[in-house]
Amino acid sequence: MPEKDAAVVAAVAKGLEGVIAAATSISSIDGTAGRLTYRGIPIEELAANSFYEEVAYFLWNGQLPTQPQLEQFMADLALMRKLPDNIVAALKIFPTTSSGMDMLRTVISLLSVSDPEEENNSPGANRRKALRLMALFPSIIAGFHRVRNGLDIIAPNPTLGHAENFLYMLTGAKPDPVRVKGVDLYLVLLADHGLNASTFTARVIAGTEADMYAAVTGALGALKGPLHGGANQGVMDMLDEIGSLAHVDAWFDATMSGHRRIMGMGHRVYKTEDPRARVLRRVSDEMGHAVGQHDLHEMALRIEQRAIAHPHFLERKLAPNVDYYSATVLYYAGIPLDLFTTIFAMSRIVGWTAHLIEQYADNRLIRPRAQYIGPDYQPYVPMAERTTEKLAEVAQSLHMASSQS
Ligand code: CMC
Repeated sequence: MPEKDAAVVAAVAKGLEGVIAAATSISSIDGTAGRLTYRGIPIEELAANSFYEEVAYFLWNGQLPTQPQLEQFMADLALMRKLPDNIVAALKIFPTTSSGMDMLRTVISLLSVSDPEEENNSPGANRRKALRLMALFPSIIAGFHRVRNGLDIIAPNPTLGHAENFLYMLTGAKPDPVRVKGVDLYLVLLADHGLNASTFTARVIAGTEADMYAAVTGALGALKGPLHGGANQGVMDMLDEIGSLAHVDAWFDATMSGHRRIMGMGHRVYKTEDPRARVLRRVSDEMGHAVGQHDLHEMALRIEQRAIAHPHFLERKLAPNVDYYSATVLYYAGIPLDLFTTIFAMSRIVGWTAHLIEQYADNRLIRPRAQYIGPDYQPYVPMAERTTEKLAEVAQSLHMASSQS
């Protein structure tokens, strides 16, 4: 191994655990204390006092808006909610069985071609793109749901806020305030979260100086997975599978003896309760009563109680993460199960774009290295000599290396 490479060989941090890979001033997580702040403001204060549009402005600008600034921001957002014609046409060609995340990833990629500023990575153009993306996510998700059910797409109502307008476009009716509040709180709580997998993906793509649409498309791909944003749907599938409170204990015991994971539990950074889960547990409790389906919340609560008292969870410091009570909150809000992860994306678009603006402002290509553990040398066996026996003989003789690439 060359001398300068030998100097950089280090143990692989599997999953990049504990690796600091970017500097950010957008959000901060204390995984031991269970604390999350957006630009210094604790998430609990924002949940109690703010709302999604204000949080978006704050995350992008670094300062809370004044009243006129907020009004202007909300007016700009309302102007951008109408779906472009090519997107309406695209929504009509998806099979009705398409997953919401596959649709969103495809449509966001398509959105780039109707933006004359697509490849302009200047701060001004990126701010306009971020606003366009934030404005259009709800219209796309609601439009997809309407089309797949054979219903007309509902035009956005400029007098409604982000969460309320989304529910209105989804259902065609003025939504009840309990559901609006639940969705708005959800959007506030999930808007940003350090260098999670999808945000990291977005920053890596931006690091190549590819455009914001490319970066957000990649982020959507990363968010889909059940270990990340897909977990909220996983929690609801689990509650469905259990069926009732009376079945929880037997289900839990079987899950533990089968060494299966409980969706919505555990976290790479939090070694205690996720602070967002604490807020969402309370919201889920309140909404469960308000919509008359508190039994679902009780099931989730019972599973949590069994889990956090179990040695497997205690020894590994596993607790509910944000996706756990997100599931019941989104269910109570009337969101179709297969759209849960798209609502995560609808919130996180603000965090992704805030990170992208930060990345473009002080960019350097993100290109880590891998520890090479393959063969040192392997002979090329000509086709004429390539028998199964010969290939097995070569495989036997290989010596595994340890260098970097
Ligand atoms: N249920 C049961 N055991 C678990 C769970 C769980 N949900 N999560 C982790 N463990 C165990 C795991 O089996 C392992 O045990 P052992 O030491 O015996 O091998 C240990 O805890 C460490 O697990 P890990 O997979 O190495 O931990 P990680 O930091 O790589 O994974 C995680 C973090 C979130 C992927 C994982 O906790 C998990 O799979 N949770 C369920 C999926 C989920 O809820 N994802 C949402 C994450 S938070 C919000 C978001 O990003 O969307």
